[in-house]
Amino acid sequence: MKKSTLVIYASVAIGVAAVLFFQSNSNTGQQIAEISIPQLNAVQTRGRELFDANCSVCHGKNAAGSDNGPSLVQKIYQPRIHADGAFFIAVKSGARAHHWKFGSMMPVAGVEKSEVALIVQYVRALQRANGIK
Ligand code: HEC
Repeated sequence: MKKSTLVIYASVAIGVAAVLFFQSNSNTGQQIAEISIPQLNAVQTRGRELFDANCSVCHGKNAAGSDNGPSLVQKIYQPRIHADGAFFIAVKSGARAHHWKFGSMMPVAGVEKSEVALIVQYVRALQRANGIK
């Protein structure tokens, strides 16, 4: 085989590998593999109950992500990038798909503003326990 042919085969192989790599990562992004669970106070515990009932079907147990939605315990959801307001808006009005390939988040019916506040407390506690501030 000619050297130039080998180079072409090698380049194609690298290209395919890169595409597969990025495809396999497009959903999970910078997701933390193993999420540390902090001690929760009463407010955060109530937030966890509400999260488990209304959000975990997509955002996963311990907000670790699922096939339907991203983990919320990752840098991109730190308060400076996604302030608490983003949670209230997402629950009330949904979130157009922009970071991931899961599709858009629909509004979540039946969750009061005061309940979103508790969910935020819970998610922030998880984030802090995993070095996301
Ligand atoms: C049916 C699936 C689903 C449910 C249920 C769901 N989400 Fe989401 N959520 C998503 C997806 C998918 C995204 C990512 C959209 C993107 O950026 O591509 C998202 C994004 C978000 C964001 C980021 C919004 C932004 O501004 O980028 C927040 C905050 C959020 N969800 C909070 C919640 C909370 C709190 C609940 C429960 C009350 C909840 N979600 C329930 C699917 C869901």
